[in-house]
Amino acid sequence: MTLTLSVVGCGYLGATHAACMSSLGFTVIGVDTDPEKVALLQSGKLPFYEPGLDTLLEQEMKTGRLSFTTDFSAVKDADVHFVCVGTPQSKDGLAADLTYVKSAVAAIAPHLKDGSLVVGKSTVPVGTAQALRAELSKIAPQADLAWNPEFLREGFAVEDTLTPNRLVVGVANDRAEEILKEVYEPVIALGTPWIRADLPTSELVKVAANSFLATKISFINAMAEVCEAAGGDVTVLAKAIGYDPRIGSRFLQAGIGFGGGCLPKDIRAFMARAEELGAKQALEFLREIDAINLRARQRVIDVVRGELSQDLTKYKIAVLGATFKPDSDDVRDSPALDIAVQLHAAGAKVVIHDPQGIEPARKRFPNLDYAPVVNDAIKDADLILHLTEWKEYRQIDPAAISSIVKSKIIIDGRNMLDRTLWRNAGWKFHALGRTD
Ligand code: UGA
Repeated sequence: MTLTLSVVGCGYLGATHAACMSSLGFTVIGVDTDPEKVALLQSGKLPFYEPGLDTLLEQEMKTGRLSFTTDFSAVKDADVHFVCVGTPQSKDGLAADLTYVKSAVAAIAPHLKDGSLVVGKSTVPVGTAQALRAELSKIAPQADLAWNPEFLREGFAVEDTLTPNRLVVGVANDRAEEILKEVYEPVIALGTPWIRADLPTSELVKVAANSFLATKISFINAMAEVCEAAGGDVTVLAKAIGYDPRIGSRFLQAGIGFGGGCLPKDIRAFMARAEELGAKQALEFLREIDAINLRARQRVIDVVRGELSQDLTKYKIAVLGATFKPDSDDVRDSPALDIAVQLHAAGAKVVIHDPQGIEPARKRFPNLDYAPVVNDAIKDADLILHLTEWKEYRQIDPAAISSIVKSKIIIDGRNMLDRTLWRNAGWKFHALGRTD
């Protein structure tokens, strides 16, 4: 008999997981406390932008296998319950806020049927799963708990869920592993590596992976700083070291650094947890990774001041990109938006363009100016900042926009634009980590 699944928390991770599991043939009930989100999903519409997920959701809603509700008792028929709620940074420190995870488990506990398995997917501090399992054994002894960290990237959410590069399960016994193998059988059949771990290791795998990625980005941004000081070119350096397969070329794109709802808060929560565990020194380097990352934003602002003036009040700056990366409408901890906000606070007239992120950005920063069309954002600008590498920005013809702007100065904060093309069109072109 095919398993019935529930997905608790239908944000980015949960909505993706629910639609993908339905596409594998399971009956899936998605539960969330936000009635607006549930209503949208139930009508087949996504509350956020993710390429490919909109059509998958629409398609799965038509099968009748997938549904969404705010009623937690609806999970009562499910055999496996995936907990996909957020674990944001706490308001008063670096640690992760576990309120949503704890309340999600508490909310489903009274409805868990005999032999069911609760599977955490949220990114949590190590030790959380064991504590939740102990708690569950008191309030719902008929159920068990496992952990199954998620490695999906925004912009590739469907692909990363249905064809991940590995599946990691943290389990306390064989039965939990068998249930998870049954769920992921079609994915395992593709040859996906399967890693069984204990509960703490599975939690650590996730934060270790994100810490490594953050370290790689900050490493190349540190090299960018040195290149700037020494007269070198970080893009050439990255290409050259990337050919060594032990290093690899991915995640060596120098620029304004990492943002989003995961990498920044995950490295901070990891540091906080290590300190609690008495292993503070082991992760001290992550403090530097964070500092290098935040410094990249300041370096762009320094270049802007160097080009225009220390006093920015008379200048119009066009910012291309608000989201933390392309193919997403997510502006959480976005380096692009942070730079825009800081320039605005310094008195510059800032106008922001983004193909998908204007409304989410406006919600957070209603006082900034936004333009839905690139040419409106750059009209009469004294300087253009390219801060999120959307494809459409690489298609801009610098010669064609020369007459629209006031001064032909552009700073490429992502090292993705064709420098020769811009310079040949008469533009002053700066990029982070490239001195000539
Ligand atoms: C990240 C991880 O890559 C996923 O594996 C993980 O599942 C996810 O967090 C999560 O924990 O949920 P995501 O936040 O979607 O995924 O974004 P990334 O693609 O990792 O990019 C993060 C940031 O690093 C972006 O701001 C991006 O612009 C920046 N970046 C990335 C660089 O500055 N340089 C690079 O070379 C690569």
